[in-house]
Amino acid sequence: MRTEVAIVGAGPAGLLLAHLLARGGISSVVVETRSQDYVASRIRAGILEHSSVELLTEAGLGERLHAEGHEHRGVYLQWPGERHHLDFVDLTGRSVWVYGQTEVQKDLVAAGTAEVVYEVTDTVLHDVATDAPYLTYTDKSGRSARLDAQVIAGCDGSFGPSRHAVPAHHYERTYPYSWLGILADVAPSTDELIYAWHPNGFALHSMRSPTVSRLYLQVPNGTDPGDWPDQRIWDELATRLGHGQDGWKLTPGPITDKSVLPMRSYVQTPMRHGRLFLAGDAAHIVPPTGAKGLNLAIADVALLSRALTAWLRENNAGPAGSYSDDALRRVWRCTHFSWWMTTMLHASGDEFDAQLQLSQLRWVTSSEAGARGLAENYAGLDIGF
Ligand code: PHB
Repeated sequence: MRTEVAIVGAGPAGLLLAHLLARGGISSVVVETRSQDYVASRIRAGILEHSSVELLTEAGLGERLHAEGHEHRGVYLQWPGERHHLDFVDLTGRSVWVYGQTEVQKDLVAAGTAEVVYEVTDTVLHDVATDAPYLTYTDKSGRSARLDAQVIAGCDGSFGPSRHAVPAHHYERTYPYSWLGILADVAPSTDELIYAWHPNGFALHSMRSPTVSRLYLQVPNGTDPGDWPDQRIWDELATRLGHGQDGWKLTPGPITDKSVLPMRSYVQTPMRHGRLFLAGDAAHIVPPTGAKGLNLAIADVALLSRALTAWLRENNAGPAGSYSDDALRRVWRCTHFSWWMTTMLHASGDEFDAQLQLSQLRWVTSSEAGARGLAENYAGLDIGF
């Protein structure tokens, strides 16, 4: 089989790339190790920043997002005794949208623009540093297949084979804590997200819809979710989120999913080797505290689709040549922001750290310059930042 762009991975990055390329008249084929149902049901991020919403809308993928997603003006930041609202719209003119990655994925599948081969195994990237790269894989029925392309796009996340095909340097930070995340069938107890600093550890109240809440607790690395029965989770969320503070109440409900998420910052450079281009988690991982992972993947793909369209349609290799540098500029900004939010909000066990964190939180919530810095990073930078 031959196509113009072979895409490894049918998550949001891979499917969105296929969709944007198709709009530019460029053919692609996506190969994916998982089944379509598995990819569609993974619980992932929930916040789209301004430029992601703009991009999805311009790409014709915004209909359900605008009908069923929820626009938020900002977030709450709190610590014991105090809760402050940061209004991103007042501060930067930009808002964010609550619309789950799961929903973005459904919209991409429904658009039907990507040709996807699901449930492949043994995907290998070949000759990426030459003018004739190709993939080999085994399809669902056990047959060996070969996909020749002009370009390969690695959108296969941190566990996929693409990133290993780039001789690269990587930068990494691990954190001494994880998140215990729950999904609950209960109306959110807040209109906008609450990021809570607490001596027991960080807590976050997020949501997926008017009837589904998503909440997180900082827990030690290696935590077994089995040690956290539902009642213990709700009690600890109530403590950290300030149940009773100024009459605010956290309403518990049936927990439908419980999992532990590790926290890591990781950047691989460069994001291109020959005719292989990396996008999304294949090149970088951020801790979830700034809600940047999905948004970064969308921004990468926006840059990459433009670069490949210029190269393959207009014979202009300029944007492809600068893709890695262009993407990394934003990647490092978001890596810094996610690290900063993470270290400002998580208990490290060190009293000096705790006082610095509280001082920083007071500054961010009382100084317009401090608030605007957070808002600008959270609500999003331009795709080409
Ligand atoms: C989520 O809703 O899953 C979520 C929201 C904001 C974050 C992280 C996760 O910073």
